[in-house]
Amino acid sequence: MEYLSEKFSLEGKTVAVTGGGGTIAKALAEAYIQAGANITLWGHRAQSIEETKRFLSDKLSCEDRVQVVVCDTSQEEDVRKAVDACCEIFGGIDVLVNAAGGNRGKAPLVDLDIKVFQEVVNLNLIAGLVVPTKVVAAYWIAEERPGCIINMASMSSYIPLSGVWAYNASKSAVKNLTMACAKEFAHAGIRVNAIAPGFFIGKQNRDLLIDRETKEFTPRGMDVLRHTPMGRFGDVQELAGVALLLASEKAAGFITGVTIPVDGGYLVDNI
Ligand SMILES: NC(=O)c1ccc[n+]([C@@H]2O[C@H](COP(=O)([O-])OP(=O)(O)OC[C@H]3O[C@@H](n4cnc5c(N)ncnc54)[C@H](O)[C@@H]3O)[C@@H](O)[C@H]2O)c1
Repeated sequence: MEYLSEKFSLEGKTVAVTGGGGTIAKALAEAYIQAGANITLWGHRAQSIEETKRFLSDKLSCEDRVQVVVCDTSQEEDVRKAVDACCEIFGGIDVLVNAAGGNRGKAPLVDLDIKVFQEVVNLNLIAGLVVPTKVVAAYWIAEERPGCIINMASMSSYIPLSGVWAYNASKSAVKNLTMACAKEFAHAGIRVNAIAPGFFIGKQNRDLLIDRETKEFTPRGMDVLRHTPMGRFGDVQELAGVALLLASEKAAGFITGVTIPVDGGYLVDNI
């Protein structure tokens, strides 16, 4: 056990999680706290990040290790202030988890609302990756401090999902930029990787997968299950192992530029 804790402990480290009020952010924050880290939750909705903080504090008795910062991660100035706030309380940041992201509905391409398309690209790419990466990597480089970034890719980073045009475009770019940033920042001791969750029911996709009125799976939800060899949706707790691995310098210090699927076999489905 000592060997495991030496490899995976995040004692004394600080993890910044964007989209801090979200479903996956909450599960990952819980895993990082259990591994000994401090957490700073960055989200643009005060209520949801406060709720996550309360949940974590009640469950893990860790109030002094969880900070919330109201922050729109598409805005550089907001992210700079969040970095400063985190440095003031915890003395620095070691890991950035880019978990802000999501989708808005689906439509045939010919009916596409271009404004919605731009919003989703802005959410997943600008707020979900580019701005926080730019600001936090600049901080690490200026401080000559190593760092680790974990992005959120998707199954649509590999194979487009029908009707979610902006989500496909932005999530394939997340995988691409994970590789590009890994190369860009390797010289500075900054590793950049991504997790590609299969299907986990969250706020962003609930309405696509479960009928609000009947509570039954939608035809799309049934399709997902048919295409997932393990025949079920994931439980967000099942993302913890890979999140801990990628964050740990001792366990993953030579891993950079990869996207790791956690998908019940979705990507290996065949006929
Ligand atoms: N749930 C899944 O099945 C699944 C699958 C694959 C990938 N993902 C990806 O994982 C990430 C998290 O997904 P989730 O299911 O937890 O989503 P979620 O909707 O529960 O959480 C996303 C959070 O991001 C926050 N957010 C949105 N815009 C923001 C901004 N500009 N600044 C700060 N915060 C902002 C939202 O308020 C929300 O709390 C997303 O990138 C999503 O695309 C999720």
